[in-house]
Parts: sequence; structure tokens; C-alpha cells
Amino acid sequence: MQDQYGHLISYLRISITDRCNERCAYCMPSEFQEWLPRDQVMSYEEIHRVVSIASELGVSKIRITGGEPLTRKGIVSFIQSLSNISGINDVGISTNGTLLSKPIDDGSSAAEALFKAGVNSVNVSLDTLSAEQYTAITGRPFLAKAIEGIDAARNVGFDKVKINSVLMRGRTENELFDLVKFAKKKDILLRFIEMMPVSSKDVLNDLNFLPCGEVMNLLSQEFGRLKPLSDFKTNGPASYYSIPGRDQIIGFIGAMTNLKFCESCNKLRLTCDGKLRPCLGSHLEFDLLKEIRSGATNDELKNFIREVVLRKPKAHDFRDNYQPDRKMIAIGG
Ligand code: 5AD
Ligand code: SF4
Repeated sequence: MQDQYGHLISYLRISITDRCNERCAYCMPSEFQEWLPRDQVMSYEEIHRVVSIASELGVSKIRITGGEPLTRKGIVSFIQSLSNISGINDVGISTNGTLLSKPIDDGSSAAEALFKAGVNSVNVSLDTLSAEQYTAITGRPFLAKAIEGIDAARNVGFDKVKINSVLMRGRTENELFDLVKFAKKKDILLRFIEMMPVSSKDVLNDLNFLPCGEVMNLLSQEFGRLKPLSDFKTNGPASYYSIPGRDQIIGFIGAMTNLKFCESCNKLRLTCDGKLRPCLGSHLEFDLLKEIRSGATNDELKNFIREVVLRKPKAHDFRDNYQPDRKMIAIGG
């Protein structure tokens, strides 16, 4: 599938729940305290049907997100069923990591169960290594669990384990060097993410926004000048740099300051309540679940998805005084 601007769409991010065991302010504003009623959340069967249809339209990569996806029951066999769809050859999960080392279903750790179910890439959110800051940011004292989860994932042997670190001035700039060293010690790819106004405009202001450029400068002063790696790519819009002398690569996801951010976008998002979103930073969303529940055929759903792709904007609206009207926790990070 191709959109109007030549973006080839091969990647679907799927939020399977809006629930989470943490409360990150940038994802879940404090006024948002109620979860969606169960019947408004897509069933596993409904999601499976969408992924099968999407795979026939050229989607080959999926990523399961939330909320915290590991809070939803039955996730392991569900993911196994998605991995079995022909055409799906890359299955990732984004998690806060706190439940990865916990036993799940058959008694093995969640990390191990996910690995066996066909997940090849695990992205763990970790903004800080300070227990105090971790609790302040996420609202929960789970730093040790998150680190245990990262270790559990590494031990299982996923192709890729990444750490995603949201940048916050006043909270995380003192954490940068420790995070870089931690990632090196664990041999994990670390990516810094600029905060986006996805959930609430209030979380993002001139005082707490920490741009990637500034972080690159701080890292360059500490470790030596970062070198851009234009050939190094993962699935997303991150830019990668090597740190000279450290044999380490660092990623930057600069949605707010990188003017080329959207150029190679290959993504669609499915929210947990069944809305198809062509872009995280746009209000456009289309009610796919309504079509499914009113009896649409596979061909009708295919056309629906194609139409959504044609409505994909050229670039996000985040820089344009964007007023969010949905919570990140429901859209899927
Ligand atoms: N800005 C940037 N990243 C965010 N995430 C959640 N909310 C925001 C936001 N407002 C990140 C999480 C996680 C990923 C799924 O999305 O920290 O790494
Ligand atoms: Fe939960 Fe992740 Fe949102 Fe934090 S960012 S509240 S861990 S879903």
C-alpha cells in the first residue's frame, strides 16, 4: 500500500489495551482515570482479522503496544496466532518492562513466553536509572522490576531489545550519561525520544521540553563528537549516531525538531478501541471496529484500510499548535 506521498505502508502498530500498571504523566494525564469499558476494546479475534487483512495489503511488521500490553490476559497465545499469519515476519512489543520477568500462563517468564510465541523485538521504556525519578515520572516504584524485565528479555535472546527514553528537562538531563553507560553494559540499543503533545498539551511546555540536539551536544561533550550513521536503520523514524571510542550506537527520535521526521514513515496505528490512525500527530482516525461490528466483509475492510492510507498526511501536526484530543495510553505509544 502506498499513500499519496509515496510512503510504503508495511508496519502496523496495535494497541491491545488502554490499561497500564504505571502512570506516566506524558502518556496518561491525571484527569484520565477511567479505563475503557471492555466491550469497546477490540477482541483478539477482531484484531487477528484486521492483521490478516492488512498482511494481504502488504503489512509485514507489527508491534503490540498499550497501555501496558502485558496487563491483558491471553496475550501470549494471541501473539502466537499473529505470528502464524503468513506475511507477518516481524513481531515486536513495546512495554514498560515491569512484567517481563514475571511468570505468565505456563509458568515461564513473560519474556520467555513472548520469545516462544514469535516476538523478535522488545522495546522497553526506561527514562531514568534513578529510583526516585523513576517513581516521580511513572507514578510507581517499579525501577527494579523494569531492570529485571530488561535482563529477562536479554537472557531469552531476542534479536533486538531496545530501550526508549523520553527526554524531560529538569528530570532526565542528569540521567543521560548513566543511561548510555547502562545500555553499553547491557549491550542494548538506547534511543532518546523527544516528548510529544500526544496526550495532553499541559505535559509539554518550553520549560520541560528537552530537544534531541541539546542531548547530542551533551553526549558529545562527555564522550566525544557523535557521528551520524545514515545507513543504520531500524523500523522507525529514529536517526542513529555512533559514539567514537565507545563502540556504541545511540538513536534519537526527534519528532518535534527533526524536520525530516515523517519522510520515511511506513506506519499505521490501530487503537485499542478499533480506530485506524494514519498518523500519531494528526486528529484523523477512522472507526474500523464499527465497520467490523456492523458486518463488513473482508473486501470491504480492505477498501476501508486502503482509504485510510490515502488519507495519511504528509507530515504530523505537532509543530502546528497541535491540540491533542486522545490519550497516548489509548492510542498506543
Ligand atoms: N511523548 C513521547 N513519547 C511518549 N511515550 C508515551 N507518551 C509519550 C509522549 N507524550 C513513549 C513511552 C514509550 C513509548 C511506547 O512511547 O515512553 O517508550
Ligand atoms: Fe504505561 Fe507506558 Fe503510558 Fe507509562 S508510557 S503510563 S508505562 S503505557
